[in-house]
Amino acid sequence: MSGSTYGQLFQISTWGESHGEATGVVIDGCPAGLPLSARDIQPFLDRRRPGVSPAVSSRQEADQVQILSGVFNGYTTGTPISLLIPNTDTRPEEYEQMKHCFRPGHADFSFQQKYGIRDHRGGGRSSGRETAARVAAGAVASLLLKEFGISITAFTRALGPIHLPEGEEDFAFLPRSPVSLPHEGLSSKALLLLQENRKKKDSCGGVVECHVRGLMAGLGQPVFQKLDALLSHAILSIGGIKGIEFGLGFAASSLLGSQYNDCFFADNGRIHKSSNHGGGILGGISDGDLLLFRAAVKPTPSIGLPQDTVTQTGENTVLSISGRHDPSIVPRVVSVVEAMTALTLADLLLLHASSRLDALKKIYNASFQDSF
Ligand SMILES: Cc1cc2nc3c(=O)[nH]c(=O)nc-3n(C[C@H](O)[C@H](O)[C@H](O)COP(=O)(O)O)c2cc1C
Repeated sequence: MSGSTYGQLFQISTWGESHGEATGVVIDGCPAGLPLSARDIQPFLDRRRPGVSPAVSSRQEADQVQILSGVFNGYTTGTPISLLIPNTDTRPEEYEQMKHCFRPGHADFSFQQKYGIRDHRGGGRSSGRETAARVAAGAVASLLLKEFGISITAFTRALGPIHLPEGEEDFAFLPRSPVSLPHEGLSSKALLLLQENRKKKDSCGGVVECHVRGLMAGLGQPVFQKLDALLSHAILSIGGIKGIEFGLGFAASSLLGSQYNDCFFADNGRIHKSSNHGGGILGGISDGDLLLFRAAVKPTPSIGLPQDTVTQTGENTVLSISGRHDPSIVPRVVSVVEAMTALTLADLLLLHASSRLDALKKIYNASFQDSF
């Protein structure tokens, strides 16, 4: 199966199926000298874990990451970093009903058409479980970005009909929200909604918003590897994400140029913008402002309500899905959005190091002085 590798210099290859022995990732291209241990990666995985609240699937996975290579005496060595996350709570018998028929909205039908064979147990590679490996790799990328003062925060902007109005975010509350919604009242409402969804055997979608702070101006590689183009690729590669918009996004289409343009002004020799409608990107390159985008998440496809479908041999049938599923993908996907953002930015940071002769000379001269 090709298509499991992402990135150019900071490159990851994920592997593993939902109900296989384990899932994992190989990271190639992480610079040497980054302090790294399993303890540093674990908090990132803990945020994505299932089985921790009524808001998410009841699958009980400890998601304990093991570092198999690429780290020596607590530092990355510049060699491939291999991370392994065992699958400990697999129940393949729960997926027997999916062996012979296709779940509406999931990848069963298209995988079968493409490969002529599919791992029906939890959707195999198309399962949200695959994203544990992305989050583990994203943790390493985030720790690399932290060395440069770059931080990434994603959160739930909307869940079904519940919408967090702009300006009402309480980011201090975010770590305590089981649905990653930074507003105490709305977070409780969202939790109730998910419990209702579960009772009704249905699901809902929502919107995840992501902010990147401390990003320098200059990341992004015109013309085919623009920052917004690469982030779109990264975010839309996550199962269940159906749209992305930067800054004002689609709303820009109904504005006048005089309303949309972010005007510049100088203050004490520094250049600023009076607004950030573009979401921190100009010409596919970061402009040094807050990088802001939103991703649209569809409702979880696997629901308990009866739905029309067909068997693999072409007979009409009705499917009511049992088993452990997320009543909404939104709370689970927040950490995955952060991970894919970190991976994209880490890659672009490394690519940027070669974009100017003077910067390249500094790197060369520093290395030259170190050698004998
Ligand atoms: C973190 C995460 C958790 C998910 N949990 C579920 C789930 O419990 N049940 C389900 O049917 N789909 C779940 N999905 C969504 C499916 O993986 C996704 O809808 C499927 O692969 C089809 O891809 P598409 O929606 O992009 O077309 C999850 C996705 C992610 C990223």
